[in-house]
Amino acid sequence: MKLPVELPSLVEIALEAGEYAQHEFLNFDRAAIEHKGKNDLVSYADKETEKLLVKNLRKLLPRAGFITEEGTVKAEEKEFRWVIDPIDGTTNFVHGIPLYAISVGLMHHEELVAGVVYNPPLKECFYASKGKGAFLNDDPLRVSAVKKLEDSLVITGFPYGKIKSQEQYLKLLGQFINDSQGFRRLGSAAIDLVYVAAGRSEAFFEGGLSAWDLAAGALIVKEAGGMVTDFKGGDNYIFGKELLAANPYVHKAVLELVQQYVD
Ligand code: IPD
Ligand code: CA
Repeated sequence: MKLPVELPSLVEIALEAGEYAQHEFLNFDRAAIEHKGKNDLVSYADKETEKLLVKNLRKLLPRAGFITEEGTVKAEEKEFRWVIDPIDGTTNFVHGIPLYAISVGLMHHEELVAGVVYNPPLKECFYASKGKGAFLNDDPLRVSAVKKLEDSLVITGFPYGKIKSQEQYLKLLGQFINDSQGFRRLGSAAIDLVYVAAGRSEAFFEGGLSAWDLAAGALIVKEAGGMVTDFKGGDNYIFGKELLAANPYVHKAVLELVQQYVD
């Protein structure tokens, strides 16, 4: 399938949204924080960034629908859908931590075909289209060639809502602290994913993610030679609320550990 948009135009749109978001990031007043749920934050910056993205993406591909985190546009079933997280890492953003990203994926029916993840503070733009590889700014991306879990830096995310069994969950975290070279929680699933694509981390797993957190990043990992699955090792990760992304060598070891502690 030929991509219905030019990838550089999509990148341009993410960069423009990033410029707006970064201006607000540098001037952010915590009085502007609103609460969507327990520890689930939002502000005008998320909503305005989303509106800017939607406006420009509509111009780029008028026949596409949208799935967006802030719901500033109604979700519609269309052949093509933009999957948008205007600011992934909102908690970092409102606390002045420069780990947040603009994340935009494009789906053709149920398949991811393009994606861009832009971290404005570091001016790092990660992007990919299906079958054409993944890039960071102008450089091709490749997952790491590390073969063992003990030499791996593993990233996770903590679920915001209630955890089913906190005891099991903490045991799982303990296993990774013991068995890996290091364990991180960065606070932006989009960034977690592209760091796996860039070979900075060997594996990332998280339960409870939404499609907008992961759509762009998951494609970027796959195009960089990585594996992306659900916690059964299957393909139901876009809407399935469980995701494991890893280089092909350590994927199995990480999956086996995760499976010991999740139902
Ligand atoms: C969150 C981040 C975080 C992850 C959460 C997401 P938001 O997105 O990606 O790393 O742990 O599950 O909801 O709320 O910052 O857009
Ligand atoms: Ca998000």
